[in-house]
Amino acid sequence: MKLRFDYNNMMTSSIGSHGIKPSEIDKAQKAHTAAFNEVIGNSGKGWQEWTETPLLDKVAIDVLNAFGKSVREKASAFVVLGIGGSALGPICVCNALLHLHHNELSKSARKAPKLYVEDNIDPERMASLLDVIDLKTTYFNVITKSGETSETLSQFLILYNLLKEAVGEDAAKEHIFVTTTVGKGSLYAVAQKEGFKVFGIPAGVGGRFSVLSNVGLVPFAVMGIDIESLLYGARNMREACERPDIHANPALMTAFLQVRSMKDGKNISVMMPYADGLRTMADFYCQIWAESLGKAVNKAGKTVNCGQTPAKSLGVTDQHSQVQLYTEGPYDKVVTFIGVDSFGKSVDIPKEESADIGDFLKGHTLNELINAERKSTEFALTKAGRSNFTILMPSVTAETVGELLMYFMYETAFAGAYLGIDTFNQPGVEEGKKATFAMIGREGYEKKLEELNSVKKDDSFIIK
Ligand code: PA5
Repeated sequence: MKLRFDYNNMMTSSIGSHGIKPSEIDKAQKAHTAAFNEVIGNSGKGWQEWTETPLLDKVAIDVLNAFGKSVREKASAFVVLGIGGSALGPICVCNALLHLHHNELSKSARKAPKLYVEDNIDPERMASLLDVIDLKTTYFNVITKSGETSETLSQFLILYNLLKEAVGEDAAKEHIFVTTTVGKGSLYAVAQKEGFKVFGIPAGVGGRFSVLSNVGLVPFAVMGIDIESLLYGARNMREACERPDIHANPALMTAFLQVRSMKDGKNISVMMPYADGLRTMADFYCQIWAESLGKAVNKAGKTVNCGQTPAKSLGVTDQHSQVQLYTEGPYDKVVTFIGVDSFGKSVDIPKEESADIGDFLKGHTLNELINAERKSTEFALTKAGRSNFTILMPSVTAETVGELLMYFMYETAFAGAYLGIDTFNQPGVEEGKKATFAMIGREGYEKKLEELNSVKKDDSFIIK
């Protein structure tokens, strides 16, 4: 494992009475064993098939890479249509591993098509996309685990229709790749009928745990991302997360510390990477943490209404907006910093620049400055008694990104086990999906529509 996890600043020794005593970790050994056994004991079973996703064999990786190359060679743009877990994995990995202005680079510098991940149905966004892509050379990856999600299906319908007009019926089929559960859902049936190429999602891999399945791997292969190293990193993290000793297991330790902090009312978890490439890692984290842990009842059926609200923050940008609150506001947060030792590029602040300003900066690098600012923020928070911990990445590579993703998945699974909840369902999201079907008039949802229509609004509470 290449990542390092520094949780000193969660402890009383660093933050005084707001911290956790080391003895508390040891006293909770029974809880650690139970959480560990629940997650590791169910590896590869039920909704925990995601633990197996990094084990993809070389032959399958080669097939994916060959497919990716064939698309890369002919596509001017590659568009992912998906939402939630079917979009955030592709977004965060591509953000981390591609050039930060990938789409604006010249074709020869990009070495891959332009990438658009369309995870919203704002009509202006769809219209804007159509303004910048050439349908004749654009390829679409429709990703939906259920094959039923209104947002993704509506995007598919619009674009398939336009594609047929642009390139003709037969050629249009070649421009659509579907990633979905094989044998299930409306999209799979349509894909079979229309003859689209289909990539399967294993039945026991849920949306927010699917980044290392075909949900992510297909776009990564097209964009030329090193899948083998990504999965290698994920496997190494899997090994670390299978260590029974909490002191050696990063995901078990930080899951415990977060859940323990919740008992002190620290119900907000801030994810603050200090690297622009990791900006959307915070989105990935926010989804997996919120959708997995925000639950009304525990496994025993008792109402718990638990969960820690994730918040995303970017270093250093948000030092100048949110950090004031983190340092002096309520003691209701745990801040996770992600630091990068060595950036892909080094930028000097010229020593010889004669402008009579900022002499203290001259001769340094932006690399030094960003890391100094991360450490300074960590220092300020710690001094103010605020719980925080740091994940350190030696550099942002396919391997370390694979480690980070796998860590997030295990940390969430362990936290859910400590909380005694079902980490892998999302009844709150499903309710909204069903209500949308009803409102838009889908057959079979008449009762839901009645329920929706029965909700009365009091006009006196509306300001016009
Ligand atoms: O994590 C989840 O299960 C959700 O966020 C889903 O990914 C999201 O609702 C999209 O669902 P689907 O992939 O079925 O279209």
